[in-house]
Amino acid sequence: MISWRKHYRQTLIAIGLLLSTSASIYGQDGDPKNGEKLFKANCTACHALDKQLVGPALKGVVARLETEQGLGKDWLHKWIKNNKELRASGDKYANEVFEKFNKTEMLVFPNLTDKDIDDILAYTTNPPAPEPAKTDAKDAANAGSANATPQSTTTTNVVIISLLAIAGLLVWILVKLRQLVKLGQSEDLAGLNETRVKSFSEIYEKYHYIGKGLIAILALLAAYGVWNWIMWIGVYKGYKPEQPIYFSHKIHAGEQKIDCQLCHSSAKYGKVSEIPSMNVCMNCHRTISEYNAEHYMEPGKDKAFYDGEIQKIYAATGWDSEKQQYTGKTQPVEWTRIHNMPDFVYFNHAQHVVAGEQAIINSFNKKNPNNKIDVVCKACHGKIDTMNVVQMANDFTMGWCIECHRTTEVDMNNGYNKEYFKNLHDKLKKQYPKDGGKITVDAIGGLECGKCHY
Ligand code: HEC
Ligand code: HEC
Ligand code: HEC
Ligand code: HEC
Ligand code: HEC
Ligand code: HEC
Repeated sequence: MISWRKHYRQTLIAIGLLLSTSASIYGQDGDPKNGEKLFKANCTACHALDKQLVGPALKGVVARLETEQGLGKDWLHKWIKNNKELRASGDKYANEVFEKFNKTEMLVFPNLTDKDIDDILAYTTNPPAPEPAKTDAKDAANAGSANATPQSTTTTNVVIISLLAIAGLLVWILVKLRQLVKLGQSEDLAGLNETRVKSFSEIYEKYHYIGKGLIAILALLAAYGVWNWIMWIGVYKGYKPEQPIYFSHKIHAGEQKIDCQLCHSSAKYGKVSEIPSMNVCMNCHRTISEYNAEHYMEPGKDKAFYDGEIQKIYAATGWDSEKQQYTGKTQPVEWTRIHNMPDFVYFNHAQHVVAGEQAIINSFNKKNPNNKIDVVCKACHGKIDTMNVVQMANDFTMGWCIECHRTTEVDMNNGYNKEYFKNLHDKLKKQYPKDGGKITVDAIGGLECGKCHY
């Protein structure tokens, strides 16, 4: 133990040296860090390091091809740059591996330089350890700054106040202890024990109210903290999970101006606004196999990345883009659900998107009530058409539903209400004279528990 301690500096230096030399041995032909970036941007749509996806696992591919096929890096360069050309040249292994993977096309990467490819190969040979904690923290910080939610500030306040209270209590105990010690010192040794007992009870007599008071305050603070915490359970404003296909609403609903309801077509018929099936994607992507909108790319993403994501639609639907036919080999895409009300809540899209449409448009789009496009959806879901990755734009709590029902004026001219409230209309106007006879959703039952709860 002692000798380890004495030598730990040397040991650390030795370990450091060992690591850096081994890294430089592996990395001598390329920069695995840069390779990782390129790999993630261009290859992860079809390849993983340690398992087969659309294409084979690529960890240690240089060594594997060397030993199994006697192929060097120059072959890999040719293959990665343009596998089609290499196959067309009659290369034996290129055609073998293509057959083996049922003639699934790998993309061509004419834009990758020789150095880029060396970097990627260095990454497959010696992948650096992942750093998930760092990016998570950054994401969380981003989410936090983008929508500073009240829960974070209230919880920090509670924590700070509790800590202050505890600090106060500690100072108080310290002062009392010092007094005790002083008392003890002033007496002679023989009477010490007696004095201690006496002074303890004296002090207790004198000060127990303060102590009890402080404990009571702490208990109240703790209760307040727990209450706050309970109130915010299940509130996920800003929730923004990664999805299996990088599908961008900004590109589809924003840039391309595709109507929300073209994809979420069930919203107007019922309760759930479904995520479109892959067939809906294929209506367009049967012909759009590449991303060519060069004027819009997210920073850090390039054409090859988007192309790879579109390829995933073909992998999911089993579409062979070369032969222009379905192979029948489908694989489901598992989207992560973002919005999810508790089971005891009844929320119906059609009620809002059809019956409530004009009411919501009138209230959220005062400037231009004739512009109906997407307004209803955005009233609740925020500016989805500016989001590359969907995130929850509101807190979706009961208070949020109620707030809107209290302030949104019902559209008495829509077919349904006109029919239903023919006779009720005047009565309601008399009954709800606030704001000059405005009839808001609460007047037609929008605050009744049974309307929103099973
Ligand atoms: C669209 C899917 C797709 C993308 C994107 C893709 N590949 Fe491939 N890759 C494949 C398939 C499929 C194969 C198997 C051979 C075939 O069917 O052509 C393959 C084979 C390979 C092989 C041969 C491996 C072996 O074991 O023989 C290498 C090396 C390779 N890919 C590297 C890359 C690199 C590097 C990138 C990124 C720059 C990349 N691939 C991007 C689909 C893809
Ligand atoms: C081209 C098809 C398409 C269009 C157009 C589209 N969406 Fe989506 N939407 C999807 C897909 C696919 C998902 C699932 C992946 C995701 O969350 O990004 C989704 C997810 C969502 C979600 C999250 C669902 C959940 O899990 O809770 C909301 C909310 C949403 N869309 C609203 C809208 C709104 C509002 C518009 C119009 C501004 C719109 N969408 C336009 C395809 C589309
Ligand atoms: C109404 C036509 C249409 C539909 C439906 C559609 N897309 Fe697209 N998609 C496009 C267009 C247009 C582009 C941009 C192509 C360009 O500008 O070169 C695109 C681009 C993409 C891209 C690359 C950019 C990005 O968003 O990351 C992906 C991935 C994609 N679509 C996935 C999907 C998926 C998944 C679906 C089904 C849920 C779908 N698309 C449905 C028209 C459509
Ligand atoms: C009045 C508010 C409101 C409006 C308007 C609204 N949504 Fe929603 N949306 C919600 C709520 C609440 C949920 C969660 C529902 C659940 O979990 O049962 C949701 C969920 C979704 C989902 C996930 C699937 C589901 O139904 O659970 C999608 C996709 C979606 N909305 C799209 C849309 C689109 C597209 C529009 C416009 C046509 C729209 N929404 C209009 C409040 C709204
Ligand atoms: C953007 C404003 C808005 C939000 C947010 C909103 N609603 Fe509504 N809601 C309306 C409007 C407008 C109507 C009236 C539709 C009509 O005219 O029949 C309505 C009607 C209803 C009704 C039918 C009431 C009745 O008596 O006919 C129910 C149930 C309902 N909403 C549930 C919910 C729930 C649950 C939530 C929260 C998850 C919610 N709403 C959030 C605007 C909103
Ligand atoms: C406009 C729709 C609406 C009406 C009306 C409504 N609720 Fe809710 N209620 C909700 C929603 C949505 C949630 C879930 C909120 C969440 O998940 O954060 C909820 C949650 C609750 C909860 C669980 C505690 C909580 O805050 O999560 C209770 C209890 C509850 N409601 C009771 C009632 C009672 C009692 C009434 C009648 C006075 C009522 N609700 C009327 C929409 C409504």
